[in-house]
Amino acid sequence: MAGRIPDQFIDELLARTDLTDVVGSRISLKKTGQNYSALCPFHNEKSPSFSLNPNKQFYYCFGCGAGGNAISFVMEHDHLDFVDAIEVLAKDAGMEVPREQGAPDRYEQNAELLKRLSESSQFYQAQLIQHPDKKKATDYLSKDRGLSGQIAKVFGLGYAPSGWDNLLKSVGTRAESQEQLLHGGMLIEKKEQPGQYYDRFRDRIIFPIRDSRGRVIAFGGRAFGDEKPKYLNSPETPVFQKSQELYGLFEAKQNSPTLDQIIVVEGYMDVIVLAQHGITNAVATLGTSVNSQHIRKLFKLVSKVILCFDGDKAGRSAAIRGLEASLPVMQDEKQVRFLFLPDGEDPDSLVRQEGKEAFNSRLEDAHSLSHVLFEHARNQVTLGDEEGEAQFTRHAMAMIQQMPKELTFRSVLINQLSNQSGIDSETLNNTVTQKYRSVAPQSNSSDEVPNSYTPDEIPYTPDYDEYDQHSSADYYPPYSPSSSQESNFKGKSQYKNKKGKENYLPPAAPSLNQIKQASLCLLLHPHISKDVDVPDPVINQADEDLQCFCKIWRYFLKNPQKNVGNLLSEEQDNAIISNVYALLNHQDAATKLKIDNALQEVQDMILTMENNLGLNSSIERLKSKGNESIKDNSSKQELRNLMDLIRKNKSQ
Ligand code: UTP
Ligand code: MN
Repeated sequence: MAGRIPDQFIDELLARTDLTDVVGSRISLKKTGQNYSALCPFHNEKSPSFSLNPNKQFYYCFGCGAGGNAISFVMEHDHLDFVDAIEVLAKDAGMEVPREQGAPDRYEQNAELLKRLSESSQFYQAQLIQHPDKKKATDYLSKDRGLSGQIAKVFGLGYAPSGWDNLLKSVGTRAESQEQLLHGGMLIEKKEQPGQYYDRFRDRIIFPIRDSRGRVIAFGGRAFGDEKPKYLNSPETPVFQKSQELYGLFEAKQNSPTLDQIIVVEGYMDVIVLAQHGITNAVATLGTSVNSQHIRKLFKLVSKVILCFDGDKAGRSAAIRGLEASLPVMQDEKQVRFLFLPDGEDPDSLVRQEGKEAFNSRLEDAHSLSHVLFEHARNQVTLGDEEGEAQFTRHAMAMIQQMPKELTFRSVLINQLSNQSGIDSETLNNTVTQKYRSVAPQSNSSDEVPNSYTPDEIPYTPDYDEYDQHSSADYYPPYSPSSSQESNFKGKSQYKNKKGKENYLPPAAPSLNQIKQASLCLLLHPHISKDVDVPDPVINQADEDLQCFCKIWRYFLKNPQKNVGNLLSEEQDNAIISNVYALLNHQDAATKLKIDNALQEVQDMILTMENNLGLNSSIERLKSKGNESIKDNSSKQELRNLMDLIRKNKSQ
């Protein structure tokens, strides 16, 4: 596998290449003012709409929207891939293409890794059929868990036999594949013998975790008995971020004749047993609570999401987290409902006891979001009478405020609250908005929520991975600088520093910041805009880079057929135009042309921004303040005002 071409070289190559020569040697150019024009080589036309700007070293076609720099021109015109286009340009420039030693390109590396994971899955499935101890596994699945062979096949269940090197010997036969299995979380390096590995999954039933396209990206392994941990899971890897995935989503899409709602449950087995009983539309989070990204992902597929919880105390608090995750991503025409199961039951046990119909009627009776919201606000009230009413109102409003402003559903809830409290909607809006802002500062100053957690991931139950035998040092650290894991964890301070520093850097920064990267992704892959969702609070806080990003995003959202050429010709704002040019001329533009995870990069950026705002943590902070919050003066005053209003209403 060839090494990666260093970024600096590409930079240097572009600096030494004149786009006018590159294009002019291939098609005939006509000077028109500062620019050149031509009949576009990328579509059929009679009058020239292809334009080349020699100062900016950028071309675009107003007709078909083709646009880019010297590398993209050669790629498109000569029908070459990225590396070959570089070779061609380097030859013209009299330069030799250097290769970085060692690591191949990140995307190639992930593709190889996915292959190894797929082979691992096949290996485990084969053991269920051919291993001498297979009976242990098949008996467990069929007798203990009541699963049919057919459903085991649908979910690709497998068996990791006991022993330290079964997978190692069959899939990790070459040094390269061992390395890949290590990066994919399947092998663990021996502490005493660096370079020596052993299987992570041993003596367990294996649940392959697939992404929504069906590619195996990780595994869960269940112990046969009471061994700890009950479920051992793959660590986070370059292809697996557990907080973003939903177990069973691919299978749900495959096997449900119509998919109009999705049930979110807690466990692997719940998903599988429900499917065996004909309820094929269940998915499970992977040991974390349901978060906003999950809901957003599901809303793209279905209009109704039912969150399913145990009836016990842990289930109740998980439901509140589900509520908080849902609020910022709610949309009109979409619903989130809450199903509380009887104490001590899970969907697996329940559907086996009472069958599909009874479970379905529970689903139909699931609580609405507003019910859970008002009930939760009510439960937090600790004071009597009017004071309690004010507390209730404030708690409810603080949650309602988390919903996007333009939502009709939000107004409906405010009206409901207005009816319950007797306070008019406008007052409700104003009073609590101030409060909400004052307890959710945009700065880093709050120490109530540890910075190292993403708000969605504040653990409400033990993090199961703590039970895994191996410390996180066993795991391969994510090597992608833009992986969401890393950007979340660096979060706020990284962004601030970058921004602050930018004033002192020369304009051509060596690499783009995360927002600019995301803008570039949109420019080069406009079709992803429809899958992107920028929450209002993020938009409201936008700085220059983010405003530019939003503008690009809105443009392509509104004009899905158009492209960067159209954008440049239609955009009025010169600042935006020059930002777009700068992005397209940036060295990263060439590499971004061939990436396949542009959407991921954009979503990661939005997540970072959301986390910077501390959106989801604000309610948490409010709650953790509890009654103390009414000790400070502004809250006291606010409570007094609310109580006055309530009294006035009552006496009328
Ligand atoms: P539960 O402990 O509720 O188990 O974990 P379950 O799904 O009912 O499993 P069975 O029926 O005993 O087999 C729910 C989910 O939490 C994660 C898994 O994703 C599991 O499906 N979990 C649980 C872990 O990751 N590790 C554990 O040790 C336990
Ligand atoms: Mn269970």
